[in-house]
Amino acid sequence: MATIYSDVSRTFSEYLLLPNLTTKDCLPEKVDLAAPITKFSKGEEPSIRLNIPIVSAIMQSVSNDTLAIALAKCGGLSFIYGSQSIEDQVEMVRKVKKHKSGFVVSDSNVSVNHTLRDVLAIKEKTGHSTIAVTNDGTANGKLLGIVTGRDYRLSRDSLDKKVADFMTPFEDLIVGYVGITLSEANDIIWEHKLNSLPIIDKDQRLHYLVFRKDYEEHKQNPLQLMDSKKRLMVGAGINTRDYNERVPALLEAEVDILCVDSSDGYTEFQRKTIETIKEKYPEVRIGGGNVVDREAFMYLVEAGADFVKVGIGGGSICITREQKGIGRGQASAVIEVAEARNEYYEKTGIYIPICSDGGIVHDYHITLALAMGADFVMMGRYFARFDESPTKKVKRGGSFVKEYWGEGSNRARNWQRYDLGGNAYLRFEEGVDSYVPYAGKLKDNLDVTLSKMKATMSSCGARSISELHENARLVLVSSTSLIEGGAHDVILKESEY
Ligand code: IMP
Repeated sequence: MATIYSDVSRTFSEYLLLPNLTTKDCLPEKVDLAAPITKFSKGEEPSIRLNIPIVSAIMQSVSNDTLAIALAKCGGLSFIYGSQSIEDQVEMVRKVKKHKSGFVVSDSNVSVNHTLRDVLAIKEKTGHSTIAVTNDGTANGKLLGIVTGRDYRLSRDSLDKKVADFMTPFEDLIVGYVGITLSEANDIIWEHKLNSLPIIDKDQRLHYLVFRKDYEEHKQNPLQLMDSKKRLMVGAGINTRDYNERVPALLEAEVDILCVDSSDGYTEFQRKTIETIKEKYPEVRIGGGNVVDREAFMYLVEAGADFVKVGIGGGSICITREQKGIGRGQASAVIEVAEARNEYYEKTGIYIPICSDGGIVHDYHITLALAMGADFVMMGRYFARFDESPTKKVKRGGSFVKEYWGEGSNRARNWQRYDLGGNAYLRFEEGVDSYVPYAGKLKDNLDVTLSKMKATMSSCGARSISELHENARLVLVSSTSLIEGGAHDVILKESEY
């Protein structure tokens, strides 16, 4: 006879947090959102700790190098999608690891033989007014000069004037040398009242430009998630098929952490994948998933997972529950797995972080997931809305939207994520292709989300996620009280924005 659970499968919107006493030392600005992402023993530190408890989904429409850089600058982490060729995924990881905050590879370059007309065309295309002049017109050629708006007068100069005749030549430039720190570069910028500083090597080849404005922006990102060599951190999704080739290539590119990307992680394939990788590369950090109950959680813990991802069928683009009838309300899944995690910690002294993946609709859902025991959350829809996500921004019915499609949709064709060991193709869709409202810059939106999370935690008397785990009090809401929770019984004025 099948087992029938008496507990209802519940989701985030069915719960609310009760406020606890807020003490004077628990104001929102005192709340620390750092979270472990890798397992650790009692009394020890995890090898990687996120500065904010948020990671971006392993999806084509979400996590590329641009989004990974923007999120790591804010203290979170992206898992670059694995449903692309090994070379392309490695290249994205490399770009994140090579990104030096404040050090920009010049994207506007000319040679001395170009003309003012060419300079104006490049300026129009890139929007940048600092243009490097190199021997071959490339970003890494020998630096011969710089052109900025101060070097020409459109009302007087002919458009055919050669760059050589109006650039500021190398002899008159102040430069820095490779190896210089950002703060040293900034000192030179201030001392000489510059707007930018070219960074060259001993052969005079251009490597980067450092801009005055970027340094200020850098200082606004005190939570940047960096490795021991001060490079941004990045993760990557892998599958249970080609890991023997994909993993070494990603490690070569110095990826910080891996995650097996699977819609159902309770499989022998996933266990073998994690065990094999751990055996070959004991230093590698690797997460597993997805699971929705204690048995599956323990299975992946025993396989050696450093963290476990929770969630089946709750993603905004997900139709797994409709197609296959499997899954569990995200809240119920997180609560049960968190209980299993805590019991395991009591018994062994080993703490396994868990990630709530999918189904976050409102910002407060993130704090609810944490209160229920998650250490961090993974989101797709949330990030797909931003400038930095890889997809097209299009106008629909008077407002802008961005494309967002599931990994199990025909568009992504990520059959490995849904494959349970059969043939190498997607038999039926488990995800949809959709739009999400365009929301602007990642940092602007994330700042608001984090402020809301800190305000909630302050109300709950929690200065950290572990205090929230300890002290949160949650209640179930009735469907009628849900109506009470929004604006009601008033005539709303139309928004002016
Ligand atoms: P969201 O944040 O609610 O949009 O959910 C994102 C999560 O949905 C991802 O991290 C995946 O776990 C899951 N997901 C991604 N693509 C699909 C799909 O096509 N079908 C089902 N689940 C998906």
